[in-house]
Amino acid sequence: MPGPLEGKHIVLGVTGSIACYKAIDLASKLTQAGALVDTIMSYGATQFVTPLAFRSITHRAVVTDTYDSNSEYSIEHVALAHQADVVVIAPATAHCIAKLAQGLADDPLTTTIIATTAPVMVAPAMDANMFDNPATQENVDTLKRRGMVIAGPAPGRLASGLMGMGRLLETPDLLGYISYTMGKDADFKGRKVVVSAGGTMEAIDPVRVITNHSSGKMGYAIAEAARDRGAEVVLVAASTSLPDPALVNVVRVRSAQDMCDEVLRQVKTADALIMAAAVADYRPASEAEQKIKKSADDLTIELAKTTDILEAARGNFVKVGFAAETQDLIPNARDKVTRKGLDLIVANDLTDPQAGFGVDTNKVTFIDGDLKVEDLPVMTKYEVSQCILDRIHQLFPA
Ligand code: CTP
Repeated sequence: MPGPLEGKHIVLGVTGSIACYKAIDLASKLTQAGALVDTIMSYGATQFVTPLAFRSITHRAVVTDTYDSNSEYSIEHVALAHQADVVVIAPATAHCIAKLAQGLADDPLTTTIIATTAPVMVAPAMDANMFDNPATQENVDTLKRRGMVIAGPAPGRLASGLMGMGRLLETPDLLGYISYTMGKDADFKGRKVVVSAGGTMEAIDPVRVITNHSSGKMGYAIAEAARDRGAEVVLVAASTSLPDPALVNVVRVRSAQDMCDEVLRQVKTADALIMAAAVADYRPASEAEQKIKKSADDLTIELAKTTDILEAARGNFVKVGFAAETQDLIPNARDKVTRKGLDLIVANDLTDPQAGFGVDTNKVTFIDGDLKVEDLPVMTKYEVSQCILDRIHQLFPA
């Protein structure tokens, strides 16, 4: 099962902004992810960067706004429009956005937009005053109303040297927006999915914690996969160094109790809960107010049991747990399905080098509410996520 961009036809529209140089990185990352990227550059864009840069990276022809009647692409805008899985404009200038709002078709890019039925994502980049201008704001609203996805802009330092709202989103965020744009009307549209990720941290004193080796990668992959199928996603994230995925509502927590409070609040309106977090089973019975000083040869810390979040979470939603085990995988996981009242458990063997903490792959076994077992092959965590979502979707009421 491929990643979200593998084999997708992406039309990348590039218009005249200094942020054009970032579009080269975007084209590169899209191509690396297996997408077929056809670039269309406005005349303004060709003044900032060359068509050769995009051609070299995408290994595909680049359409420019030069009225070259000999170009193999001179009548191809309609063909590109028809084969596109998504049309992305990054960066999109105020002028380009205004033309789209008016429905103008006076160059290859705007003509392609008019001719396509594919979803369209627009990533504005311009000076803050230009973005704030009521004309631009109204044009952006018009595009949104017509169903286009507006990605950014982000606040920060602009080419003018001023600070403000107008920066092109960074490449990882643009990639997230593109995947979302392609899947926004898919089978999880209208569904709210709550995912937990990372390892909780239980304070011993103001400087020390008890935690675990969870990287958060599995939960983050599930959150992204659910977003890419149109879900509204809340990611309750404990300790992890991963950046927030685009278009996912990330709530940062520390302890098992914080995670419990947030998850129980979120599931009241959820269609599914997926607990991928490694939650501490025990926490220090009390947190020392001051840093514990080194004195005796031994130190005993009294621990108290935490609340089992999955057990406590009850309601009208599909409930999925994880079981990371080092021995007796299937009997232990089966026991958790029953004890926690789960619709599905995703069990993995931590002693397998292709599964578990920190790696990008996982090898899991599904055990459903009827205790039926299915072994899955080694897959990326994103692919495992898609399989979990397939199972969850089957369990949604019609
Ligand atoms: N879990 C939870 N709340 C806890 C502990 C675990 O919701 N306080 C969830 C985990 O997120 C996971 C599932 O329960 O989805 C199983 O976690 P695991 O640590 O494997 O099981 P435990 O019930 O803690 O049992 P044990 O540690 O004895 O294996």
